[in-house]
Parts: sequence; C-alpha cells; structure tokens
Amino acid sequence: MLDMNRIPASIAIIMDGNGRWAKKRFLPRVAGHNAGMLAMKEIIKTSSTLGVKYLTVYAFSTENWKRTEEEVSGIFKLLVRYVDSELEELNENNVKVRILGDYSVIPEAAKERIEKSLKTTENNTGLQFNIALNYGSRAEIVRAMNRINQDIRESKLDRDTEITEELLSRYLYTGDENDNIPDPDLIIRTSGEERLSNFLLWQSAYSEFAFTDVLWPDFTPEEYKRLIEEYQNRDRRFGGRK
Ligand code: IPE
Ligand code: IPE
Ligand code: MG
Repeated sequence: MLDMNRIPASIAIIMDGNGRWAKKRFLPRVAGHNAGMLAMKEIIKTSSTLGVKYLTVYAFSTENWKRTEEEVSGIFKLLVRYVDSELEELNENNVKVRILGDYSVIPEAAKERIEKSLKTTENNTGLQFNIALNYGSRAEIVRAMNRINQDIRESKLDRDTEITEELLSRYLYTGDENDNIPDPDLIIRTSGEERLSNFLLWQSAYSEFAFTDVLWPDFTPEEYKRLIEEYQNRDRRFGGRK
C-alpha cells in the first residue's frame, strides 16, 4: 500500500518509448508522441492528487534535434495542441508550469504557447509542473558556469566569489529562475531503458531510480503508484550509516 504520508516531494520522469509504441501498431512516430501526451495528462493529475510538489518531465532533449524534421516539427505541433486544449484545466487545478531548457529556439507557435503557459500559471500554488524542453544536463551546467562568469563581469557577484555547490545549484535551470526545484527524490524511466540520457546529472546525485518496461503511452496511474511504492521501500542513506 502507498503510504500517503511519505509521498516523494520531487519526482522526475524520463518519458520514453513513444516511438516503439507507435511502431508496434504500425503507426507513425508522431502518433506515439500523441498517445504519450495523453498518458502525461493522467500522470499530472495523479501527481496533484497524491500531493507531489514538483513533477519534472523530460519532453525534448538537446540531442532530440537529431531526429527527422517530420518528427521534430510533429512534437512541437503537439505541444501547441496540448497547451491549447489543456492550459485552462491546468490553471484551474492550480498547477504552475515551468520550463527547464532553452526554449528560445523552438518553433515560434510553440514558444508562444510556452510563454502563455508560464504567464497564466505563474501565481498558482499547487503542483509545480516542470517541462524539460530542449534540455540537456551538460549544457545546463556549462550555462550555469557562464552565467556566474557574466554576473562577476557585471559586478552582480563579487569578483573573488568562491564557486560552491550551493552557488552552482542556484544558476542551474532548477535554481533561482525556477524557484529552486528540490533534487528529485525519485527518477522514473519507462520503456526498459536504464540510463539518464543527459537528464538532471547534477540533481540526481542521491535520487532513487525506478525503471519499468512499460512504454510511456501505456504508463498508467496504477503503474506510477506501484513505482512510488517501490520507492517507499528503499533505504535512502545519503552517505551516512543509518
Ligand atoms: C520519448 O519517446 C519521447 C521523446 C524523446 C520526445 P521516444 O521517441 O524516444 O521513443 P522510442 O525510444 O523511440 O521508443
Ligand atoms: C530521452 O530519451 C529524452 C526524452 C525522453 C525526451 P531518448 O529516447 O532521446 O534517449 P536515448 O537516445 O534513448 O538515450
Ligand atoms: Mg527513446
């Protein structure tokens, strides 16, 4: 049974397997992404209901640009559709949307919807739903270093500032600009792959991992709860003896 008093505050999900889901059905890959979006809707709702505070999903990586133009533009068109049909409900459910990654370079229509989502939900106080979009962890860390450098040049930081873990953390996408998202307690990856693929490398230092063979479009609230329960049975030590 799920212990409702020990629901992880911060969960991150690598939503993987959309392409394979479509392939199994002889459908185009974009159909898999569409089905994946439907699964995501349910998981957002379940997260709110369970009292998860931060849900971070990997939607598009800095490496995903290597895919065909058809697939990439299909994904961003879906994002537009998703915001147009779901933003109102997200807002009603008090969900606050945040973006991790450089979305300045995504297609204009998608960028517009992102900006609208951020603005519409900025004062919401429920679930914080973070979308990693054109996100890559190495790019994030390099960007953080460059931003520190810039703040030193612009005298926003003292010129002999010592770089500490705490300072670097604040300059990551998960830092100040997005209200300091706590490191994920639990990272889930679907579709049987067991790797991070450049997701939250810094933030996952002490995360628990849960893997499932279920392809993302088939991922259900029941499977989600099962993995959270698995997490609750882990023994987190953070380097101590306990
Ligand atoms: C994850 O599903 C979604 C994105 C990366 C955008 P994939 O598209 O990677 O699906 P598979 O791994 O090819 O099955
Ligand atoms: C990671 O999945 C990125 C997202 C889920 C958005 P990929 O399918 O792109 O990762 P690899 O290529 O299998 O490592
Ligand atoms: Mg994949």
